[in-house]
Amino acid sequence: MQTQLDILNRAINEWIPDERPVSQAPQAKELAAKLDLALADEGGSQEELEAAIKAYLHYNPDVAQPDFFKLLYSGQNKTAVLGDWITSLSNATMHTYQVGPVATLMEMELIRQWNKLVGFDEGEGVMVAGGSQANLIAMMLARHHACPDIKTEGLKGRTLVAYTSDQAHYSAEKAANVLGIGSNNLVAVASDEDGRMLPEALDAEIEKSLAASHIPFFIGLTAGTTVVGAYDPVEACAEVAKKHNVWLHIDGAWGGPILFSEQHRHNVAGSQLADSFTWDAHKLMNVPITAAVILVKHKGALKATCSGGGGEYLFHEDENAAYNLGERSIQCGRRADALKVWLSWKEMGNQGFAAKIDKLQQIRKQCVEMVEGRDNLQMLAPAVYLNVLFRYEPQHIQGEEAIRQLNIRICKTMMAEGNAYVDYARFKGRTGIRLILANGEVSHDDLQRLLDNVQRIGRELDQPAD
Ligand SMILES: Cc1ncc(COP(=O)(O)O)c(C=O)c1O
Repeated sequence: MQTQLDILNRAINEWIPDERPVSQAPQAKELAAKLDLALADEGGSQEELEAAIKAYLHYNPDVAQPDFFKLLYSGQNKTAVLGDWITSLSNATMHTYQVGPVATLMEMELIRQWNKLVGFDEGEGVMVAGGSQANLIAMMLARHHACPDIKTEGLKGRTLVAYTSDQAHYSAEKAANVLGIGSNNLVAVASDEDGRMLPEALDAEIEKSLAASHIPFFIGLTAGTTVVGAYDPVEACAEVAKKHNVWLHIDGAWGGPILFSEQHRHNVAGSQLADSFTWDAHKLMNVPITAAVILVKHKGALKATCSGGGGEYLFHEDENAAYNLGERSIQCGRRADALKVWLSWKEMGNQGFAAKIDKLQQIRKQCVEMVEGRDNLQMLAPAVYLNVLFRYEPQHIQGEEAIRQLNIRICKTMMAEGNAYVDYARFKGRTGIRLILANGEVSHDDLQRLLDNVQRIGRELDQPAD
């Protein structure tokens, strides 16, 4: 291991310099031409391995910098990184207690704590490979709740219908595909102008399905939508779910951690009324990818839905049988993601995460005030959580397409200059710059610099050609 440790040491201390552009990757074809990535029959040298690691680190965006605003994670949770390394060192797997004893107990404690935050008093859960998989399992649980025989008999001509808002993450569509529901049977329920699902539209869509003799089985709300961070109204939608006896899921992959904050948790009031809840620890909690969980209100639902096989050689009915998490999962080998989450939670406590959220909410407020106070900048949606969607829009430019192109070019220019890394996104037909505030280290000055750059680049790109 000494050689590997030396390389790790150099990687941290020499190959990731403190001062470097947030992004410096050329286009894919150009990069492919620069690197020698070919694998061969004959093994390579130590130098070749080191060169590859160096290049890997050099060209990857520096997501730890406060200037990385592109995705729903940013910064570095060093304790969780350590946990990730130890996880690889142990190579535990999570199907049975025997091969991941401490990890199993840690995962069970995490699930207790997560359920407490959501309000599932008797809940259960299992860690999964990301929010998309959590949403898939949620839909599978709902399918099992509505028609348990599908597990063994298949759909048999039945049409099951799922409902998410038109702002929901695309993982719902993938889940409908994987589960044989058919993506045309996933209804995009209308949202209001702030991006929240309209409960009356949800009710109307369910009535429409019933009139067609279809089976409504899954309502997927979002707590913190991907583009604007909107929170669907849980209590009103829970009434609709109850009326029609439909499974209610909340996708809190991004916005779930707001539950840590006494000050802001009201955004997801009524979370305890749901049947299941998705939570990503690799987004706002900043644990290395992947770390996520599906939480379920009803004990036993996961095993009833996901189990199948393995009894003869793996899941022995011994004294630790109740601790074998594998029957709750659709995976066999499963990485022990619990350790990195547990270590960082232990270090920060609930209060540490609450403080991070409260601080970022404060920064978000300042950011919105700055946008609103500057020439030619405009907010495209209210910023409730940590997404700020805004754009550069000088009065003389008319037409959505022209403004859209200008803002896309602003994002690309900013990236090419090695300044802040932001991305563009569309909301209700208008394209803007999506700024994600996920890094607890981000400061007022970072945002000021970013907005200065947006205005400067916008002005430069907007010069009439000679
Ligand atoms: C609201 C929401 N749900 C689910 C996901 C998918 O999560 P993951 O990337 O962990 O699969 C995302 C990802 O951005 C998201 O924003």
